[in-house]
Amino acid sequence: RAVAAATRPLLGFQAVPASVADTIVVPPGYQAEVLIAWGDALFPDAPAFAQNNDARAQARQFGDNNDGMSFFPLGPDRALLAVNNEYTNYEYLFADGGKALSAGAVAKAQAAHGVSLVELVRKDGKWQANPKGALNRRITATTPMTLSGPAAGHALLKTQADPEGRTALGTFNNCANGQTPWGTYLTCEENFNGYFGSEGKPALDKRAARYGLAAEDAGFGWHKFDERFDLAKHPQEPHRFGWVVEIDPQDPASTPKKRTALGRFKHENAAFTVNKDGRAVVYLGDDERGEHIYRFVSKNKVAPGNDPANRDLLDEGTLYVARFDAREGELKGTGQWLPLVHGQHGLTRENGFADQGEVLIFAREAATRLGATTMDRPEWVAVHPHRSEVYCTLTNNKNRGIKENQPLDGANPRAENPYGQIIRWRPMGDDHGSDSFEWDLFLLAGNPSVHKEGLMAGSANIHPDNMFNSPDGIGFDEAGRLWIQTDGDYSNEKQFAGMGNNQMLCADPASGEVRRFLTGPVACEITGLTFSPDWRTMFVGVQHPGEEGAPSHFPDGGTAIPRSAVLRITRNDGGIIGA
Ligand code: FEO
Ligand code: CA
Ligand code: CA
Ligand code: CA
Repeated sequence: RAVAAATRPLLGFQAVPASVADTIVVPPGYQAEVLIAWGDALFPDAPAFAQNNDARAQARQFGDNNDGMSFFPLGPDRALLAVNNEYTNYEYLFADGGKALSAGAVAKAQAAHGVSLVELVRKDGKWQANPKGALNRRITATTPMTLSGPAAGHALLKTQADPEGRTALGTFNNCANGQTPWGTYLTCEENFNGYFGSEGKPALDKRAARYGLAAEDAGFGWHKFDERFDLAKHPQEPHRFGWVVEIDPQDPASTPKKRTALGRFKHENAAFTVNKDGRAVVYLGDDERGEHIYRFVSKNKVAPGNDPANRDLLDEGTLYVARFDAREGELKGTGQWLPLVHGQHGLTRENGFADQGEVLIFAREAATRLGATTMDRPEWVAVHPHRSEVYCTLTNNKNRGIKENQPLDGANPRAENPYGQIIRWRPMGDDHGSDSFEWDLFLLAGNPSVHKEGLMAGSANIHPDNMFNSPDGIGFDEAGRLWIQTDGDYSNEKQFAGMGNNQMLCADPASGEVRRFLTGPVACEITGLTFSPDWRTMFVGVQHPGEEGAPSHFPDGGTAIPRSAVLRITRNDGGIIGA
């Protein structure tokens, strides 16, 4: 029996076809059910979901557009799920589509953002949300947080409301996540720039532009009703966003901490691993065309369990950025981690970096000075559970080969890359603290039906039955299956013909096989994944079904407006997901 188990293929489920249906499809023998959706009650006093719920109601309900999430066991049948609420779609948040914004409407939008912490109970073998859970909590765009680490208290972080530069209000555009072995949750601030704007003429320098800050916001209108978001009045407020925030989910009264040692950029996720020497290593993507991949290595070692010594471990250490050097004519090569340390390699006062705080606050600019490789939008990073391998999705990049700072190279080999790829590296000596690594491309997404040859057809492991575009969320299970989620073009036309709606696939890192596991409803993105400790329940996020007015009524059906939701996926025979 042991021999049979050892030779059983890693992927044990039947592939599902591409789909354009407004529903979830999973393999035969599997079930996908809604665990919790935007607007569901998180507290006994929360009203039932209704589109006209106000800010107060929203602050007591599950937030919108769920993204990365982590499962925290509290006992055999009790757990806590921490879920990011990245942003909100005004077309569904408000009955008028957000046409007549008001202070109350902006307050509701702010309450729809952040993080939702919800207790789960297992009843009749199934995990369910518990709206009476003592640890349930909403963290929103206005929740007080501590700025900690090397940039805390920096002159660049000070504002009128916070002359100490140590207390920021809220977190928003929380994309993906991470989880520490000491039981805390890491939530990553991504496109924070889109919430700032001004009716006036803000003074925006090159540094602000590098982070996409502009007088015109992304359409949220917060600056019109909440002065904090007006760039002309509070030009330093955006410096307090773009961080990784650490949350203690076991203490609903705790103050989240923004860990400035991990750098300021458009954080995607925080892939945590303990190195063989005991130090914490966190791999980080910066999702923007032509931005970079980073690594943080802690100064001190991780103490076992929930030791108070770990509490501020992420405040001290070194942040690095990656350079990928391709072997001539190949899609593989070697690489280096370049340290973002003040005083080294030109990160000096003469070059605009007064101290380590300034290096971290303008990490992108520091990375450019070190010669970091510009990548095709680094999204999630995942560390293999048993092998010294790290995977990162490079989702797509229309600027590749077009912008001068984004030439074709072995790691980013396709002009105007519409499909994306997954890069993989192996640290030298199996040491995640080593400054050198070897890398290759695990896969190139592509369309072999449309492109009969060349790199746009995708790598050899992509075929008409498993093709997809724009890999984004990734994560491993304990057996080493690599789960891949997509946030791509769902037109199902032209160069995306045959790919259907956004989806989730599963890959065998050893053989390279990729198999489609799930397809999502109309105009959604599939993002966020975590497992119960027995690997028999998988939680998967469906974000923004029906965006931009696309015809979705997921998950409620009928004529209901669409809602983002977390799915609970189980096997009818109670088996391990994917096996
Ligand atoms: Fe929020 Fe880069 O995805
Ligand atoms: Ca993403
Ligand atoms: Ca994406
Ligand atoms: Ca998203």
